[in-house]
Amino acid sequence: MKPKVYITRRIPNEIIQKLKEMCEVRMWNEEEEPVPREVLEKEIIDSDGLFCLITESIDKELLEKANQLKVVSNMAVGYNNIDIEVAKEKGITVTNTPGVLTETTADLTFALIMATSRRLIESSDYLKKGNWKTWSPMQLTGHDIYGSTLGIIGLGRIGESVARRARGFDMNVLYYNRSRKPDAEKELGLNYTDMDTLLEESDFVCIMTPYTTETKNLISQRELSLMKKTSILINTARGGIVDEAALYEALKIGTIWAAGLDVFEQEPVSLDHPLLTLPNVVVLPHIGSASIKTRMKMAELAADNLILALQSQTPKYVVV
Ligand code: DGY
Repeated sequence: MKPKVYITRRIPNEIIQKLKEMCEVRMWNEEEEPVPREVLEKEIIDSDGLFCLITESIDKELLEKANQLKVVSNMAVGYNNIDIEVAKEKGITVTNTPGVLTETTADLTFALIMATSRRLIESSDYLKKGNWKTWSPMQLTGHDIYGSTLGIIGLGRIGESVARRARGFDMNVLYYNRSRKPDAEKELGLNYTDMDTLLEESDFVCIMTPYTTETKNLISQRELSLMKKTSILINTARGGIVDEAALYEALKIGTIWAAGLDVFEQEPVSLDHPLLTLPNVVVLPHIGSASIKTRMKMAELAADNLILALQSQTPKYVVV
């Protein structure tokens, strides 16, 4: 008998076919609507494998309903949506998709650096709204990227790729990480600092750390107050790492200059969220890894992880 797999969103056909070769597949066949919780709660009962996204909360309550679940394959590198401890206790393998999205997410991080510092969205709106009457010396002026200081909080794969891009812009790169990375320091010319020094000295602060109980609200009012008035905060990691109320205040009163956000504490972010009212914030709907090639690779890797775990082999990327 084939193992039963539930997929929580419509994924590319090739991947469904691949899974169907060895599994009995059921799927929430929608692209823009997440699977309702009650459907997931029902589907999990007799599933052997779950192919899920960051939009699903795979919590204790859900995992306790699973009678025969062997693997949860998250189509993401981050896995803060999954209760890892409970999965471990229950002997459920959890897998993720690192590596394949590194460069794409680093590209998007750099896109936000450029969009915020050079006011790209604001300038485009200015033109489209008919405000462009003449060229003027200080019109829509921003801040230079080249020669500036970039501070990376969390030097994982994506952080290193952002640092690599920064070299092309002659940036001075600082980083803060739980452990030092001497090889990366040497290869990329990075300077290790404590977090406060990084916040004080950087023109761009990029958050690239995983979201855990330790990193929740890591950037709050105190941290923002250490940053330069001309500095820019970029978050392509997870929304909850930044205290959004404190960020709103800092941007509004000019404690910092701008922010580029691809992630929010609550996603999708509510349209009446105060951050959305500020001209100095560039907001994106969590598209860090959203290139066609990369999303295909993530789906393929998530499927491979799932199949290997169901075959009692070691998946490529195991969280627990
Ligand atoms: C991840 O993989 O964790 C991203 O946030 C979605 O690409």
